[in-house]
Amino acid sequence: MTDKTSWGFETKQIHAGQEPDATTGARALPIHQTTAFVFDSTEQAANRFALAELGPIYTRITNPTQEVAENRIAALEGGSAALLLASGQAASTFAVLNIANAGDHIVSSSSIYGGTYNLFKYSLAKLGIEVTFVEDQDNPEAWKRAVRPNTKLFFAESIANPRSNVLDIRTVADIAHENNLPLIIDNTIASPYLVRPFEHGADIVVHSATKFLGGHGTTMGGVIVDGGTFPWSQHADKFPGLTEPDESYNGVSYTGAVGDAIAYIIKARVQLLRDLGSAIAPINAWLLLQGIETLSLRIERHVQNAQEIAEWLEAHADVASVAYSGLPSSPWYAVANKYAPKGVGAVLSFELKGGVDAGKAFVNALDLFSHVANIGDVRSLVIHPASTTHSQLTPEQQLTAGVTPGLVRLSVGLEQIEDIKADLERGFAAAREVVKAAA
Ligand SMILES: Cc1ncc(COP(=O)(O)O)c(C=O)c1O
Repeated sequence: MTDKTSWGFETKQIHAGQEPDATTGARALPIHQTTAFVFDSTEQAANRFALAELGPIYTRITNPTQEVAENRIAALEGGSAALLLASGQAASTFAVLNIANAGDHIVSSSSIYGGTYNLFKYSLAKLGIEVTFVEDQDNPEAWKRAVRPNTKLFFAESIANPRSNVLDIRTVADIAHENNLPLIIDNTIASPYLVRPFEHGADIVVHSATKFLGGHGTTMGGVIVDGGTFPWSQHADKFPGLTEPDESYNGVSYTGAVGDAIAYIIKARVQLLRDLGSAIAPINAWLLLQGIETLSLRIERHVQNAQEIAEWLEAHADVASVAYSGLPSSPWYAVANKYAPKGVGAVLSFELKGGVDAGKAFVNALDLFSHVANIGDVRSLVIHPASTTHSQLTPEQQLTAGVTPGLVRLSVGLEQIEDIKADLERGFAAAREVVKAAA
């Protein structure tokens, strides 16, 4: 019998978590477009509801197509279980609400996706959960200082944008564990092919699967993966929602029923997903899985193209600076080599010498690059953060987020490299015109 746990990444991304369909023999994964599943007997139905038998009940909570995608992603991250949801935002929301209640506190790096920042600062505050943002995630003392008696978790991104800063996962995980807290890592930009946070001490991983996992700019999805190693029941006083009877689920204790390794995901599924309903459609789970089957190939080419573009931009006369931690000039080059030795992905930013107007002209002139608020597509994407994603911030706030006036963000796609450069040259020519006209 094959030892599937010893499979390499490339094999797992195609095969992990799936057998040919037992009824039809279908080799590719069937799309189970059904809302409910027939029980063999009232006994089986009762066992499924009681978690004595883990099997499908209703697609809001589980679906076999979704389940294969979950098992595949868990295998790629090296985790014990996963929960696929309707979007990355749903995944971050569930990851926090699963262990933090009104009156609790969380600690997050401030170097995170703007949507996550808003979720933590405004929406969680309305639910009574307070956040402390660590402004300098590279300063261990700042993480330590932020901890309070009611803190429930640490949160950060493995690779963040627009600065391409790489987290020292081990250091932050150690501080979390000294305080009996789990570290949640958003691994969206890296993907499990480049960074595997569990190998460096992280406890929970979340992704916007919308980005590199799906990879084709077609499908929204999010996923939470449990590393399976956080000892929830040893810290029962901090995480009673996992260890004590859940009144809303026949008095089940999640750690008691299924053990520490999968209790977190089971609770998120049968309690939060049952109640909040952010389920992914089976067709979307299938589309994401289709993307995952070529993940390593796409990421290798994304990295190759992005690295070449970053070096080319750094040598370009019209560029003031490039933020890409694959460059030796990046302050995060050494930490990137440690955590992401195969490369730091497709997202990079650069500062045009001509400021805001040059940045806008640059973006408007591009043809091959699509001007969208997205990353992680096979297509090359561009945005000018100062006039779009960060335009609601004051200039000072923009600077603390790493967004300078002439900053342009790219998600480098899989097109032929010379075509990508030629398009960027079109942008530089337009930006030069603007600078010349203003002079
Ligand atoms: C790093 C990161 N995390 C989470 C999200 C949210 O994911 P979604 O758009 O799938 O809800 C995004 C979206 O841009 C992101 O870039």
